[in-house]
Amino acid sequence: MTDETFNPGPNTASWLDRWDDSVMTTYGTPPIVIERGEKSTVWDVDGNEYLDLLSGIAVTSVGHANPAVAKAVADQVSTLIHTSNLYGHKRTIELSERLKGIVESYANTGNNTKVFYCQGGATANEAAIKLARRNAAKVQGTETAGTKVKLISTNKAFHGRTSGSLTLTGKPEKRDQFLPLLDGVVYVDFNDLEQLEAAMDDDVAAIFLEPIQGEGGVNVATDEYLAKARELATKYNALMIHDEVQTGIGRTGEWYYGLSRGVVPDVISSAKGLGGGMPIGASIALGNAADLFEPGDHATTYGGNPVTSAAALAVLDTIENEAILDNVKTVGQYFKDEVLALGHPAIVEVRGAGLLIAIELTEPVAAEAVKLALAKGFLLNAVTPTAIRVAPPLVITPDELDTFVAVLPDILDQVTTNGDLLGNE
Ligand SMILES: Cc1ncc(COP(=O)(O)O)c(C=O)c1O
Repeated sequence: MTDETFNPGPNTASWLDRWDDSVMTTYGTPPIVIERGEKSTVWDVDGNEYLDLLSGIAVTSVGHANPAVAKAVADQVSTLIHTSNLYGHKRTIELSERLKGIVESYANTGNNTKVFYCQGGATANEAAIKLARRNAAKVQGTETAGTKVKLISTNKAFHGRTSGSLTLTGKPEKRDQFLPLLDGVVYVDFNDLEQLEAAMDDDVAAIFLEPIQGEGGVNVATDEYLAKARELATKYNALMIHDEVQTGIGRTGEWYYGLSRGVVPDVISSAKGLGGGMPIGASIALGNAADLFEPGDHATTYGGNPVTSAAALAVLDTIENEAILDNVKTVGQYFKDEVLALGHPAIVEVRGAGLLIAIELTEPVAAEAVKLALAKGFLLNAVTPTAIRVAPPLVITPDELDTFVAVLPDILDQVTTNGDLLGNE
């Protein structure tokens, strides 16, 4: 229905033809081609305006074309673009000190925090897998990890698409056609304490956990679950790895959600919002885990590149200078309250933290709702068949969110079977 009515214009059609002819089909043909952005708004190649409620899947944290990020990148590009890690440069040192300071500002994080840089979330998790291997060898006093290679992950988890991170991804439909992948990954239900405990033994090298499952539907871990996972990892000499690729760097109103719940992991995977749109990933190791790698153990040519590091520094500055963590908490709560106050019969629940929110619907019509929202000028996605995800730039304003809340009832009326909802079936 909405496919037929949504027609962004002739320029879009022409660019999409060229896309189909030349871009590999992984995501499928996109509905629009974006030309430029400013703060929380983007414009397509036909000049149509959209409020971006997805921010490139939780990436453009400080808004599109953020002047501080743009200036940092431009200055860095015209000074020094690349060194490799055979040589140092100032930006990577400064960024590591900042991330260390952020992590260590939370309770019980100690004072030994070190960072490995890569290109994104999946590669941050790959580094964490290798840290788990090194830790397994170390605690056993052996050369290799031996049988201590079991990795615990959760059903519905998303950890990326590289071979190791794909194995950790708890979605068989994304994984199975690429088997064989990594051996030894065990999947347990998220937030199920008993299953987790039953899966643990001395062969476990690490527990991987998103403190809030993003792609799995914005499922928030209970404090009890996070604490139990930490306790079990310690008991079995395994690493506790928090994948905060989606939840980190202010998305929940905290720098890192797990730390804000009083749980200290051994490794935090960070990416997405960290670069504000520039591709950077970070594996942040705490305590003994910070010293597991030795020269030659792991590497990547572009990791900690001066330009992406400069962008990340500008993101961190902006978040601090503009009190963005507070904004996320206030505006996120405001949005949740406003959506719930609609009292629309198609809305079952509004969940999440800060500005990582899912609107759960009574029917599997999230994709239809997203299409209709696009036609009305809003970018969102269907994170599950029944849930719409809202993850806007962290600088979004209540007024901007109001414009979406105003059209949401009409969208839901159109995509749900009103008769059923009213109990008239
Ligand atoms: C929690 C989590 N981990 C890892 C990834 C993979 O990150 P990337 O796409 O940058 O490799 C994602 C991406 O959505 C994610 O949400």
